[in-house]
Amino acid sequence: GAVERGNYRHFMLKEIFEQPRAVADTLEGRLAGGRVLEEAFGYGAAEVLDGVREVQILACGTSYHAGMVARYWLEAVAGVPCSVEVANEFRYRRPVVRPDTLVVTISQSGETADTLAALRDIKARVGSRALAICNVPESSLVRESELVLMTRAGPEIGVASTKAFTTQLTALLLLTLALARRNGLPAEREAEYVAALEELPRRIERALELNDAIDALAADFADKHHSLFLGRGPLYPVAMEGALKLKEISYIHAEAYPAGELKHGPLALVDGEMPVIAIAPNDDLLEKLKSNLQEVRARGGRLVVFADTAAGMDDGEGVRTFPLEHSHELIAPVVYTVPLQLLAYHVAVIKGTDVDQPRNLAKSVTVE
Ligand code: G6P
Repeated sequence: GAVERGNYRHFMLKEIFEQPRAVADTLEGRLAGGRVLEEAFGYGAAEVLDGVREVQILACGTSYHAGMVARYWLEAVAGVPCSVEVANEFRYRRPVVRPDTLVVTISQSGETADTLAALRDIKARVGSRALAICNVPESSLVRESELVLMTRAGPEIGVASTKAFTTQLTALLLLTLALARRNGLPAEREAEYVAALEELPRRIERALELNDAIDALAADFADKHHSLFLGRGPLYPVAMEGALKLKEISYIHAEAYPAGELKHGPLALVDGEMPVIAIAPNDDLLEKLKSNLQEVRARGGRLVVFADTAAGMDDGEGVRTFPLEHSHELIAPVVYTVPLQLLAYHVAVIKGTDVDQPRNLAKSVTVE
Protein backbone atom coordinates (compact mmCIF):
# COMPACT_ATOMS: atom_id res chain seq x y z
CA GLY A 1 0.00 0.00 0.00
CA ALA A 2 0.91 3.68 -0.06
CA VAL A 3 3.72 4.72 2.24
CA GLU A 4 2.40 6.94 5.03
CA ARG A 5 4.09 9.85 6.76
CA GLY A 6 2.44 9.02 10.09
CA ASN A 7 3.07 11.69 12.69
CA TYR A 8 6.10 13.07 10.93
CA ARG A 9 5.90 16.42 9.19
CA HIS A 10 7.98 15.20 6.24
CA PHE A 11 9.01 11.87 4.78
CA MET A 12 12.62 12.91 5.18
CA LEU A 13 12.32 13.19 8.96
CA LYS A 14 10.45 9.88 9.13
CA GLU A 15 13.16 8.23 7.06
CA ILE A 16 15.94 9.69 9.24
CA PHE A 17 14.24 8.18 12.28
CA GLU A 18 13.75 4.83 10.53
CA GLN A 19 17.51 4.33 10.28
CA PRO A 20 18.04 2.15 13.37
CA ARG A 21 15.42 -0.26 12.00
CA ALA A 22 16.67 -0.06 8.40
CA VAL A 23 20.25 -0.78 9.42
CA ALA A 24 19.16 -3.65 11.69
CA ASP A 25 17.15 -5.11 8.79
CA THR A 26 20.16 -4.80 6.49
CA LEU A 27 22.26 -6.80 8.97
CA GLU A 28 19.54 -9.37 9.68
CA GLY A 29 20.61 -12.95 8.87
CA ARG A 30 23.98 -11.78 7.52
CA LEU A 31 26.09 -12.13 10.67
CA ALA A 32 26.54 -15.18 12.86
CA GLY A 33 29.11 -16.38 15.35
CA GLY A 34 31.27 -13.28 14.90
CA ARG A 35 31.42 -13.67 11.12
CA VAL A 36 29.88 -12.22 8.00
CA LEU A 37 27.85 -14.83 6.12
CA GLU A 38 28.92 -14.71 2.49
CA GLU A 39 25.74 -16.34 1.24
CA ALA A 40 24.26 -12.87 1.71
CA PHE A 41 25.96 -11.83 -1.54
CA GLY A 42 24.19 -14.45 -3.61
CA TYR A 43 24.79 -17.88 -5.04
CA GLY A 44 28.45 -18.58 -5.84
CA ALA A 45 29.64 -15.47 -4.01
CA ALA A 46 32.56 -17.15 -2.23
CA GLU A 47 34.15 -18.17 -5.52
CA VAL A 48 33.71 -14.71 -7.01
CA LEU A 49 35.13 -12.98 -3.93
CA ASP A 50 38.14 -15.36 -3.92
CA GLY A 51 39.15 -14.01 -7.31
CA VAL A 52 38.92 -10.29 -6.47
CA ARG A 53 42.21 -8.35 -6.57
CA GLU A 54 40.78 -4.87 -6.88
CA VAL A 55 37.47 -3.05 -6.48
CA GLN A 56 35.98 -0.38 -8.75
CA ILE A 57 32.99 1.41 -7.24
CA LEU A 58 30.55 3.27 -9.50
CA ALA A 59 27.60 5.38 -8.37
CA CYS A 60 26.06 8.85 -8.46
CA GLY A 61 24.96 11.40 -5.87
CA THR A 62 24.62 10.20 -2.32
CA SER A 63 25.39 6.63 -3.39
CA TYR A 64 28.74 7.90 -4.69
CA HIS A 65 29.51 9.28 -1.23
CA ALA A 66 28.82 5.84 0.26
CA GLY A 67 31.39 4.49 -2.19
CA MET A 68 33.90 7.16 -1.15
CA VAL A 69 33.60 6.07 2.48
CA ALA A 70 33.96 2.41 1.48
CA ARG A 71 37.26 3.10 -0.27
CA TYR A 72 38.82 3.94 3.10
CA TRP A 73 37.47 0.69 4.56
CA LEU A 74 38.36 -1.54 1.62
CA GLU A 75 41.96 -0.35 1.58
CA ALA A 76 42.63 0.06 5.32
CA VAL A 77 40.69 -2.93 6.65
CA ALA A 78 40.55 -5.34 3.68
CA GLY A 79 43.84 -4.39 2.00
CA VAL A 80 42.16 -4.31 -1.43
CA PRO A 81 43.00 -1.49 -3.86
CA CYS A 82 39.84 0.46 -4.56
CA SER A 83 38.84 3.22 -6.97
CA VAL A 84 35.60 5.17 -6.78
CA GLU A 85 34.14 7.35 -9.48
CA VAL A 86 30.89 9.00 -10.44
CA ALA A 87 29.39 6.83 -13.17
CA ASN A 88 28.68 9.81 -15.45
CA GLU A 89 32.42 10.49 -15.81
CA PHE A 90 33.59 6.90 -15.80
CA ARG A 91 31.36 5.78 -18.63
CA TYR A 92 32.77 8.31 -21.11
CA ARG A 93 36.51 8.07 -20.55
CA ARG A 94 37.38 4.51 -21.54
CA PRO A 95 38.82 3.64 -18.12
CA VAL A 96 41.16 0.68 -17.63
CA VAL A 97 39.48 -2.12 -15.72
CA ARG A 98 41.02 -5.57 -15.29
CA PRO A 99 39.16 -8.87 -15.32
CA ASP A 100 40.04 -9.50 -11.64
CA THR A 101 38.43 -6.21 -10.61
CA LEU A 102 35.10 -6.51 -8.86
CA VAL A 103 32.80 -3.80 -10.15
CA VAL A 104 30.56 -2.60 -7.32
CA THR A 105 27.62 -0.43 -8.27
CA ILE A 106 25.72 1.39 -5.52
CA SER A 107 22.24 2.71 -6.14
CA GLN A 108 19.11 3.26 -4.11
CA SER A 109 16.79 2.96 -7.11
CA GLY A 110 18.77 0.60 -9.32
CA GLU A 111 17.60 2.69 -12.28
CA THR A 112 20.12 5.55 -12.47
CA ALA A 113 20.93 5.76 -16.18
CA ASP A 114 24.64 6.57 -15.84
CA THR A 115 25.31 3.85 -13.29
CA LEU A 116 23.57 1.26 -15.43
CA ALA A 117 25.38 2.40 -18.59
CA ALA A 118 28.78 2.28 -16.87
CA LEU A 119 28.11 -1.27 -15.68
CA ARG A 120 26.97 -2.42 -19.11
CA ASP A 121 30.05 -0.90 -20.72
CA ILE A 122 32.49 -2.75 -18.45
CA LYS A 123 30.61 -6.01 -18.77
CA ALA A 124 30.76 -5.75 -22.54
CA ARG A 125 34.40 -4.61 -22.76
CA VAL A 126 36.09 -6.47 -19.90
CA GLY A 127 33.70 -9.05 -18.50
CA SER A 128 34.50 -8.20 -14.86
CA ARG A 129 32.36 -9.67 -12.10
CA ALA A 130 29.75 -7.30 -10.75
CA LEU A 131 28.11 -6.73 -7.39
CA ALA A 132 25.11 -4.41 -7.00
CA ILE A 133 24.31 -2.79 -3.66
CA CYS A 134 20.76 -1.69 -4.18
CA ASN A 135 17.48 -0.97 -2.42
CA VAL A 136 14.97 -2.10 -5.10
CA PRO A 137 14.91 -5.86 -5.71
CA GLU A 138 13.16 -5.75 -9.08
CA SER A 139 15.41 -3.00 -10.52
CA SER A 140 17.48 -3.15 -13.72
CA LEU A 141 20.75 -2.95 -11.80
CA VAL A 142 19.87 -5.99 -9.70
CA ARG A 143 18.76 -7.96 -12.76
CA GLU A 144 22.01 -7.23 -14.56
CA SER A 145 24.44 -8.00 -11.71
CA GLU A 146 25.81 -11.39 -10.87
CA LEU A 147 26.08 -10.69 -7.15
CA VAL A 148 23.59 -8.61 -5.22
CA LEU A 149 23.51 -7.29 -1.69
CA MET A 150 20.16 -5.69 -0.97
CA THR A 151 19.94 -2.77 1.41
CA ARG A 152 16.70 -3.22 3.24
CA ALA A 153 15.86 0.42 3.84
CA GLY A 154 12.28 0.08 2.62
CA PRO A 155 10.76 2.66 0.24
CA GLU A 156 12.55 6.01 0.38
CA ILE A 157 10.24 8.86 -0.62
CA GLY A 158 12.23 11.99 0.27
CA VAL A 159 14.34 13.08 -2.68
CA ALA A 160 17.26 13.74 -0.34
CA SER A 161 18.54 10.26 0.43
CA THR A 162 19.03 9.35 4.11
CA LYS A 163 18.27 5.78 5.14
CA ALA A 164 19.41 4.49 1.76
CA PHE A 165 22.86 5.99 2.47
CA THR A 166 23.33 4.52 5.94
CA THR A 167 22.14 1.09 4.79
CA GLN A 168 24.52 1.29 1.82
CA LEU A 169 27.37 1.96 4.26
CA THR A 170 26.21 -1.02 6.32
CA ALA A 171 26.23 -3.26 3.24
CA LEU A 172 29.68 -1.96 2.27
CA LEU A 173 30.99 -2.89 5.72
CA LEU A 174 29.77 -6.45 5.12
CA LEU A 175 31.65 -6.49 1.81
CA THR A 176 34.76 -5.07 3.49
CA LEU A 177 34.80 -7.84 6.10
CA ALA A 178 34.15 -10.58 3.52
CA LEU A 179 37.18 -9.41 1.51
CA ALA A 180 39.32 -8.67 4.58
CA ARG A 181 39.06 -12.27 5.69
CA ARG A 182 40.66 -13.33 2.41
CA ASN A 183 43.54 -10.97 3.01
CA GLY A 184 44.39 -12.33 6.42
CA LEU A 185 42.15 -10.44 8.82
CA PRO A 186 42.40 -12.55 11.99
CA ALA A 187 39.15 -14.17 13.17
CA GLU A 188 39.26 -12.26 16.48
CA ARG A 189 39.50 -8.96 14.62
CA GLU A 190 36.54 -9.94 12.43
CA ALA A 191 34.58 -10.82 15.57
CA GLU A 192 35.42 -7.39 17.04
CA TYR A 193 34.20 -5.67 13.85
CA VAL A 194 31.06 -7.80 13.73
CA ALA A 195 30.31 -6.80 17.34
CA ALA A 196 30.71 -3.14 16.32
CA LEU A 197 28.25 -3.69 13.46
CA GLU A 198 25.76 -5.32 15.80
CA GLU A 199 25.91 -2.18 17.96
CA LEU A 200 25.26 0.13 15.06
CA PRO A 201 21.44 0.42 15.29
CA ARG A 202 21.75 1.39 18.96
CA ARG A 203 24.46 3.98 18.22
CA ILE A 204 22.24 5.54 15.53
CA GLU A 205 19.39 5.72 18.02
CA ARG A 206 21.65 7.60 20.42
CA ALA A 207 22.70 10.02 17.70
CA LEU A 208 19.03 10.71 16.96
CA GLU A 209 18.70 12.00 20.52
CA LEU A 210 20.51 15.14 19.34
CA ASN A 211 17.43 16.06 17.31
CA ASP A 212 16.09 18.81 19.59
CA ALA A 213 19.49 20.40 20.15
CA ILE A 214 20.15 20.45 16.40
CA ASP A 215 16.70 21.91 15.77
CA ALA A 216 17.62 24.77 18.13
CA LEU A 217 20.95 25.29 16.34
CA ALA A 218 19.36 25.44 12.88
CA ALA A 219 18.10 29.01 13.34
CA ASP A 220 21.72 30.22 13.20
CA PHE A 221 22.04 28.84 9.68
CA ALA A 222 18.87 30.10 8.07
CA ASP A 223 20.33 33.49 7.05
CA LYS A 224 23.70 32.16 5.89
CA HIS A 225 24.71 31.86 2.24
CA HIS A 226 27.75 29.62 2.53
CA SER A 227 29.01 26.86 4.77
CA LEU A 228 31.99 24.59 5.02
CA PHE A 229 32.00 20.97 6.20
CA LEU A 230 35.25 19.42 7.42
CA GLY A 231 36.26 15.85 8.15
CA ARG A 232 39.35 13.69 7.86
CA GLY A 233 39.78 10.07 6.75
CA PRO A 234 36.46 8.28 6.13
CA LEU A 235 34.72 11.23 7.77
CA TYR A 236 35.72 13.40 4.82
CA PRO A 237 33.16 11.77 2.49
CA VAL A 238 30.67 11.97 5.37
CA ALA A 239 31.32 15.74 5.37
CA MET A 240 30.67 15.69 1.58
CA GLU A 241 27.36 13.98 2.20
CA GLY A 242 26.48 16.52 4.93
CA ALA A 243 27.23 19.37 2.50
CA LEU A 244 25.15 17.72 -0.23
CA LYS A 245 22.16 17.34 2.12
CA LEU A 246 22.31 21.03 3.07
CA LYS A 247 22.59 22.13 -0.58
CA GLU A 248 19.79 19.88 -1.78
CA ILE A 249 17.09 20.92 0.64
CA SER A 250 18.05 24.30 2.15
CA TYR A 251 19.67 25.80 -0.99
CA ILE A 252 22.57 27.08 1.09
CA HIS A 253 25.89 26.71 -0.67
CA ALA A 254 27.90 24.09 1.14
CA GLU A 255 31.32 22.72 0.41
CA ALA A 256 33.19 19.87 2.02
CA TYR A 257 36.92 19.73 2.47
CA PRO A 258 39.29 17.25 4.01
CA ALA A 259 40.40 19.30 7.02
CA GLY A 260 44.05 19.02 6.00
CA GLU A 261 43.32 20.96 2.80
CA LEU A 262 41.92 23.94 4.69
CA LYS A 263 45.06 26.02 4.45
CA HIS A 264 45.30 25.38 0.69
CA GLY A 265 42.41 27.67 -0.11
CA PRO A 266 39.15 27.57 1.83
CA LEU A 267 40.68 29.27 4.88
CA ALA A 268 40.59 32.47 2.82
CA LEU A 269 36.78 32.32 2.88
CA VAL A 270 36.40 31.88 6.61
CA ASP A 271 34.73 34.70 8.53
CA GLY A 272 31.89 35.07 11.03
CA GLU A 273 29.30 34.72 8.26
CA MET A 274 30.34 31.26 7.09
CA PRO A 275 29.62 28.49 9.57
CA VAL A 276 32.15 25.67 9.65
CA ILE A 277 30.84 22.25 10.60
CA ALA A 278 33.36 19.64 11.73
CA ILE A 279 33.01 16.00 12.63
CA ALA A 280 35.39 14.75 15.25
CA PRO A 281 35.27 11.12 16.29
CA ASN A 282 37.96 10.13 18.72
CA ASP A 283 40.28 8.60 16.13
CA ASP A 284 43.94 8.81 15.17
CA LEU A 285 43.35 12.04 13.30
CA LEU A 286 41.70 13.91 16.15
CA GLU A 287 44.74 15.93 17.21
CA LYS A 288 45.33 17.02 13.62
CA LEU A 289 41.68 17.98 13.24
CA LYS A 290 41.85 20.04 16.43
CA SER A 291 44.70 22.09 15.09
CA ASN A 292 42.77 22.61 11.81
CA LEU A 293 39.85 23.91 13.87
CA GLN A 294 42.16 26.22 15.75
CA GLU A 295 43.03 27.81 12.41
CA VAL A 296 39.33 28.44 11.78
CA ARG A 297 38.87 30.01 15.22
CA ALA A 298 41.90 32.24 14.74
CA ARG A 299 40.16 33.76 11.69
CA GLY A 300 36.94 34.51 13.57
CA GLY A 301 35.10 31.54 12.04
CA ARG A 302 32.12 30.08 13.91
CA LEU A 303 32.44 26.37 14.53
CA VAL A 304 29.88 23.65 15.04
CA VAL A 305 31.55 20.42 16.11
CA PHE A 306 29.99 16.98 16.34
CA ALA A 307 32.45 15.23 18.62
CA ASP A 308 33.04 12.04 20.54
CA THR A 309 32.42 12.65 24.26
CA ALA A 310 35.99 11.48 24.85
CA ALA A 311 37.47 13.85 22.26
CA GLY A 312 38.01 16.62 24.81
CA MET A 313 36.16 19.26 22.77
CA ASP A 314 34.27 21.90 24.70
CA ASP A 315 32.01 24.81 23.95
CA GLY A 316 33.80 28.12 23.91
CA GLU A 317 33.80 31.48 22.25
CA GLY A 318 32.49 30.81 18.73
CA VAL A 319 32.45 27.03 19.21
CA ARG A 320 29.33 24.90 19.71
CA THR A 321 29.94 21.26 20.51
CA PHE A 322 27.45 18.42 20.19
CA PRO A 323 28.60 15.28 21.98
CA LEU A 324 28.13 11.77 20.58
CA GLU A 325 28.88 8.80 22.77
CA HIS A 326 31.84 6.75 21.68
CA SER A 327 31.39 4.44 18.69
CA HIS A 328 33.87 1.91 17.37
CA GLU A 329 36.03 3.58 14.72
CA LEU A 330 34.69 1.26 12.02
CA ILE A 331 31.09 2.44 12.36
CA ALA A 332 31.76 6.11 13.19
CA PRO A 333 31.11 7.29 9.59
CA VAL A 334 27.59 5.86 9.75
CA VAL A 335 26.84 7.35 13.18
CA TYR A 336 28.18 10.83 12.34
CA THR A 337 26.03 11.00 9.22
CA VAL A 338 22.90 11.28 11.36
CA PRO A 339 23.45 14.71 12.98
CA LEU A 340 24.35 16.17 9.57
CA GLN A 341 21.06 14.87 8.11
CA LEU A 342 19.18 16.43 11.02
CA LEU A 343 20.98 19.74 10.58
CA ALA A 344 20.08 19.95 6.87
CA TYR A 345 16.50 18.97 7.64
CA HIS A 346 15.90 21.59 10.35
CA VAL A 347 17.58 24.38 8.39
CA ALA A 348 15.35 23.57 5.39
CA VAL A 349 12.22 23.59 7.57
CA ILE A 350 13.12 27.03 8.93
CA LYS A 351 13.74 28.28 5.40
CA GLY A 352 10.36 26.89 4.34
CA THR A 353 11.59 24.91 1.34
CA ASP A 354 9.81 21.89 -0.07
CA VAL A 355 11.85 19.43 1.99
CA ASP A 356 10.68 16.19 0.40
CA GLN A 357 10.72 17.52 -3.16
CA PRO A 358 13.43 20.15 -3.50
CA ARG A 359 13.33 22.32 -6.59
CA ASN A 360 14.97 21.03 -9.78
CA LEU A 361 15.82 17.58 -8.35
CA ALA A 362 14.39 14.13 -9.02
CA LYS A 363 14.38 11.05 -6.82
CA SER A 364 15.87 8.97 -9.58
CA VAL A 365 17.64 10.17 -12.73
CA THR A 366 16.69 7.55 -15.28
CA VAL A 367 17.53 9.57 -18.38
CA GLU A 368 20.77 11.36 -19.14
C1 G6P B 1 19.34 11.50 -7.57
C2 G6P B 1 18.75 11.56 -6.17
C3 G6P B 1 19.85 11.32 -5.13
C4 G6P B 1 20.56 10.01 -5.41
C5 G6P B 1 21.10 9.95 -6.86
C6 G6P B 1 21.57 8.54 -7.20
O1 G6P B 1 20.20 12.58 -7.74
O2 G6P B 1 18.15 12.82 -5.95
O3 G6P B 1 19.28 11.27 -3.84
O4 G6P B 1 21.63 9.86 -4.52
O5 G6P B 1 20.07 10.28 -7.77
O6 G6P B 1 20.46 7.69 -7.19
P1 G6P B 1 20.53 6.15 -6.95
O7 G6P B 1 19.11 5.67 -7.03
O8 G6P B 1 21.37 5.58 -8.08
O9 G6P B 1 21.16 5.91 -5.64
